[in-house]
Amino acid sequence: MAQALKKADNVMFQSTQPELGDNRLELLRGLRQAQKTLDPKWFYDERGSRLFDRITRLPEYYPTRTEIGILTDNRQAISRLCETGCVFIEPGSGSSEKVRLLLDELRPSAYVPVDISEEFLCDAALQLGREYPWLNIHAVCADFNHSWSFLDEVPEGKRVVFYPGSTIGNLEPQAAVAFLQRVRRILGEDGGALVGVDLHKSSPRLHAAYNDASGLTARFNLNVLERINGVLDANFDERLFSHRAFYNEELQRIEMHLVSDKAQSVKCSGGHIEFAAGETIHTENSYKYTVDGFAQLAQSANLSLQQSWLDSESLFSVHYLSAV
Ligand code: AVJ
Repeated sequence: MAQALKKADNVMFQSTQPELGDNRLELLRGLRQAQKTLDPKWFYDERGSRLFDRITRLPEYYPTRTEIGILTDNRQAISRLCETGCVFIEPGSGSSEKVRLLLDELRPSAYVPVDISEEFLCDAALQLGREYPWLNIHAVCADFNHSWSFLDEVPEGKRVVFYPGSTIGNLEPQAAVAFLQRVRRILGEDGGALVGVDLHKSSPRLHAAYNDASGLTARFNLNVLERINGVLDANFDERLFSHRAFYNEELQRIEMHLVSDKAQSVKCSGGHIEFAAGETIHTENSYKYTVDGFAQLAQSANLSLQQSWLDSESLFSVHYLSAV
C-alpha cells in the first residue's frame, strides 16, 4: 500500500495501481476469445477521459444532463437520505463534476474520489479542493474492479457510495449484482449507495446517443486501440477499424464494437492477433434498466431501494439504496 501523499491542505492522494503484468494478461485473454473483447475501463486514459467529458455535453447524449437535472432538483431529499457528515465515496469519479451538485447541501465529512486515471484524478481533486476549501478530499488512484482495500486508509463515518452516470450499466447484470454485493460489504450497518441508472427506452433515442453526428463517440471507441498499443506493445491501426454501436433490444443493452475493415494480422506482445474482415472487438456494454428491474438487482445484493428519482420524461433514474 502506497503512502498517502498530501497534495494541498485539504487534499490527500493515495495510489494503489495494480501491476501492469496483471493487466496485460487480462487484456490478452480478452483479445484471444472467440468474440474478442476489451474491458471498457481501457477507454479512460488521459485522452479517453477527455473525449468522454466531451461526449457528456453532446446534444444526443441525454444521460449526463438528465442526471444532473435529477441531482440538482432533488439535492435536499438526496442529502437527507445520505446524511450530513457521511464519507462520500465515488468509484470512477472522473472530473468529479456531479458531486459538486450535492456538496453544499450534503456537507460530507470526507469525499473519496477513486479513479484509474492518475493525472486526471489528481487534477480533478486539486481543482475541487480549491473550490471547496472546507472539504476533506482523500483521492485514491485504484482499479476498484480489483480491490477496495484502499478504504482501510480513509476516514471513518457512515459510508455512502456514489455511483452516478449509469457506470453500473457497463456490467453484465450478474457482475452488477457482484459489484453491489461488494458495495454492501463495505457499507457496514448504516451505509447507503446513491446510484445513477439509465432507463430502457425506444431504440432511436438510444441509438443516437451512441452514434452522435459529430463522431466523438467513434473517436472515443477507436482511441482504445492506441491505448492497447501502448500497454501491449501492439500495432493496431485506428484507420483500419470502424465504430459500431447498436441497441440489443433482447438484452436491453447498447453494444459498442470496433469492426475490422479488412482481414488483418495485428502484432501484439510478441505474437499476432488475426482478424477476419468484419470481425469485431466488443468494447462496451451499456445496460438499460426499468426501476423495478433495478430494484430487483439491488435486492439480490441485499440492498433495499429506499427512493428513486426520475426526470419528467423517465429517461434516467437515481436511486438511494440502503444496507438494511
Ligand atoms: C460511462 C459507461 C455510462 O455507457 O453511456 C458513452 C460510456 N460509451 N458513450 C455509457 C459511453 C459511449 C457511458 N458510461
